[in-house]
Amino acid sequence: MDMITHPVDPAFKSDILRCFDHQSYAIPARWLYDRQGSELFEQITELPEYYPTRTETTLLENYSEDVANFSGIGRAVIEFGSGSSTKTPHLLRAVQPSAYVPIDISGEFLTASAAQLQTEFPDLPIYPLEADFMRPLRLPDEVADHPKIGFFPGSTIGNMVARTSVDLLRSMRETLGEGAQLLIGFDRIKDPDVLVAAYDDSAGVTAQFSLNLLLRINRELGGDIPVEQFRHVAVWSDLYARIEIYLECVADVRFEVNDKPVQMSKGDKIHIENSHKYGLRDARLMLRAGGWTPVQDWSDTQDYFSLILADARPFKDAP
Ligand code: AVI
Repeated sequence: MDMITHPVDPAFKSDILRCFDHQSYAIPARWLYDRQGSELFEQITELPEYYPTRTETTLLENYSEDVANFSGIGRAVIEFGSGSSTKTPHLLRAVQPSAYVPIDISGEFLTASAAQLQTEFPDLPIYPLEADFMRPLRLPDEVADHPKIGFFPGSTIGNMVARTSVDLLRSMRETLGEGAQLLIGFDRIKDPDVLVAAYDDSAGVTAQFSLNLLLRINRELGGDIPVEQFRHVAVWSDLYARIEIYLECVADVRFEVNDKPVQMSKGDKIHIENSHKYGLRDARLMLRAGGWTPVQDWSDTQDYFSLILADARPFKDAP
């Protein structure tokens, strides 16, 4: 069988080459999600230690009706980074949307999950949009005049630093327009032991997810990184209120990436991901900085995870 080779994303190549050139050893987390990475992430969401997915799903099961009481029914639901859309049905059943627009950067994922959802909601107009939601988007014309509710679950916002989160919230407001609402998930600050376990599980799936980034570099950029000489490290930073994930060299190593020689020393670390956690007030402030007015929130009994509903109200110059 012929090997199907995909063209290398030039942005991936330049981010990786920059990482090894500058010796600051940092790679943006978005490159973790090639096909293998996305499959490993799906496995992470089912791990006993990884509480966010099941906690947020339970919140949606329990409180979607309550969300509908605040948002009203019949808005178009716009989901940012819809992935496999597994949490969406609870919300859709409650808010009875006029249409559903799942937005994802991976067209493959998008088509499959939209088709799956269509079988569950045969009368719902679905308009999948393959796009990078980090920038303001033009939504499909069919929903232009609909009142809208954005849905951004999973605490994906936690993978961004504060400045990028605020930029994203502002850009979502621009995409959805004044009068829109946003239902967004935030992972809460909690016992660091619980947090570290969630990002360094005993079955080693999260480690595989991280190390897959090196395998991806080898696959796509013709590298020969000795992956077994790296280990996955997850640490809690109280200063930044985030889990930081690194790939640490366990020995001095030499390898090539894209025909360029690289040397790293034992103990050197490549910073590959942040996952920020929030107090409820931190999350509300972040929303307000991004142009959204929080109206209601829902948390589980342990305060592990929160959903916040916010409005895009007209801006006022004076109090
Ligand atoms: C996608 N994102 C919200 C996950 C998180 O919890 O930060 C990514 C992840 N990385 C390792 N485990 C989960």
